[in-house]
Amino acid sequence: MSFEINARTELLGLLGHPVAHSVSPALQNSLAEACGLNQRYLAFDIADEEALEDAVWGGHAMGVRGFNVTVPYKKAVMEYLEEIDPIAKKIGAVNTMKWEENGWHGYNTDMPGLLRALAYDGVEIQGKNVVLIGAGGAANAALCAALEGGASKILILNRTVSRAEELAEQFNKEYPFIPIRCMGLSEDYVSYMKESGKEWIALQTTSVGMHPDVNGLPVSGDDFYELLSVGYDIIFNPEETAFMKQVKIHGGRAFNGLRMLLFQGIRSYEIWNEVSITDTVARDILVKMEVALRR
Ligand code: ATR
Repeated sequence: MSFEINARTELLGLLGHPVAHSVSPALQNSLAEACGLNQRYLAFDIADEEALEDAVWGGHAMGVRGFNVTVPYKKAVMEYLEEIDPIAKKIGAVNTMKWEENGWHGYNTDMPGLLRALAYDGVEIQGKNVVLIGAGGAANAALCAALEGGASKILILNRTVSRAEELAEQFNKEYPFIPIRCMGLSEDYVSYMKESGKEWIALQTTSVGMHPDVNGLPVSGDDFYELLSVGYDIIFNPEETAFMKQVKIHGGRAFNGLRMLLFQGIRSYEIWNEVSITDTVARDILVKMEVALRR
């Protein structure tokens, strides 16, 4: 059931810039409705870091239960947190805050969101080879998911190799038993992948192929795509990216970023409200999101 806004309605929100096209309000308000909780979630466009500080403390003063935090404040917001969970520390970014008795606590739900998306689709990371495409902000959580999920070997492919190496360095100490190899797009990564003799799961974290550049491919070459059993793209507009098409043409399963978005949002909602959202509820919301994006 959906509550009318009344004097007891609790506020949740998103802090970021820009936020006008965010799908989080639709997602979070659907979750509140599905759980029968008297809450509303709004997107707040925060102009700069000074405004971020005001929003964080002003939000608390007004009894906001929790915030999502998005670009460009996922690091900056850490300054205002009393506690940061270990996964968010490893990733170096917070996307969820909840007010607790002693102050704001910070979490990263991108990593558990991706792991749940993989599980939802029946994709097992444990013992598998994972190729991570990209080494920007989104790659942090994806690399952490591959490591936490127990991949046997990880290859980071990035246009700028030094950036991939920095990313690997960030996680090497925490996960010393999982080898991470970094390669540039002009290197012979296909030979390296073939040497491993197994199928690869690809996590595509670059913006290449995002609308309006719908023909953009982050990695080209049939021999690369032939090695992929599964391809996850972080992009969800277009619904089927050029990357996903290539994965499918070569016999793999491909998924867009809507599921990652859905499950990171679900994890945030679970943290704020101490509830468990079932796969059945998740599926209903995913269908709604797919319909909304096709409009
Ligand atoms: P962030 O996510 O931190 O904002 P970004 O600059 O948006 O980072 O880039 C995200 C990823 O997409 C990076 O891995 C970037 O490669 P570089 O590290 O070499 O910049 C990758 N990327 C962006 N445009 C690309 C392109 N045209 N071809 C290949 N990779 C690209």
